[in-house]
Amino acid sequence: ANTVTAPDAEVVLAQPRGFCAGVDRAIEIVEQALKRFGAPIYVRHEIVHNAYVVNDLRQKGAVFVQELDEVPTGGTVIFSAHGVSRAVREAAEARGLRVFDATCPLVTKVHVEVSKMRAQDCEIVMIGHKGHPEVEGTMGQADGGMLLVESVADVARLQVANPERLAYVTQTTLSVDETREIVAALKARFPAISEPKKQDICYATQNRQDAVKFMAPQVDAVIVVGSPNSSNSNRLREVAERLGVPAYLADAPEQIRDEWIAGKRRIGVTAGASAPEVLAQSIVTELQRRGVQRVRALDGIEENMSFPLPKGLTASN
Ligand code: F3S
Repeated sequence: ANTVTAPDAEVVLAQPRGFCAGVDRAIEIVEQALKRFGAPIYVRHEIVHNAYVVNDLRQKGAVFVQELDEVPTGGTVIFSAHGVSRAVREAAEARGLRVFDATCPLVTKVHVEVSKMRAQDCEIVMIGHKGHPEVEGTMGQADGGMLLVESVADVARLQVANPERLAYVTQTTLSVDETREIVAALKARFPAISEPKKQDICYATQNRQDAVKFMAPQVDAVIVVGSPNSSNSNRLREVAERLGVPAYLADAPEQIRDEWIAGKRRIGVTAGASAPEVLAQSIVTELQRRGVQRVRALDGIEENMSFPLPKGLTASN
């Protein structure tokens, strides 16, 4: 009776979607720390940018804080998957806090690049989104000598110390296509700029964007399961929009608006790297309640990446 979609509507599921290896590991770190040391376990910043995950961990005894000074002396603190600056790391050490680092190893890879490039006296251009914790963490690997650009227009305004000693790095969760344009602009202005051996945008970001590009032409609307502050989820929505398909972020089933799906026959669903599959499934169930008849999963890359837990949290000790 309350059918909103077209009568024979189907959901088309993108593959891959949802959790990446870095998110999986970060959540596991909080859960293992809670198991071993008991609540409260302090987590600096949202462990990953997903409201469902954060609420679930909060119920289990995690306490989310913005800054380290909110962690009491003797406490255990976990750094989020986005990484932290050297200053934060040093402050935790100076206070003698027990630290577990849930920084994604693919973010740490960028941190190492920054340290090496700075050691070679290169000034570094970071391509990323101002204010995102990953950008603060990566820019905070150096004492100065770093410049942030967010767009091609920013590249034109850049003032560098020496164009012959210049390098760039990027945030891991950017739009692959937009970043290509920004890198092209950087290379056009600074032909000697050195670049990471392998792109800093991570495999999960690349694969999820590729999957949306494959899905978008086959659907009339796209719903991205993800929180509003999730960078990679927002990029997935933009990828679909760039291909001319209306796309929306939804963090919970009740957020789905009738006008997104009214009269639509094929509704694409994907999920950002921080969004759990149970949430994606609850969105699909809600779409079925509003008229979807069939669910079809697309073919796509099978990911098999996984990262080990830090010392002190692995199953054997
Ligand atoms: Fe890491 Fe990429 Fe996920 S940087 S946390 S694998 S989105």
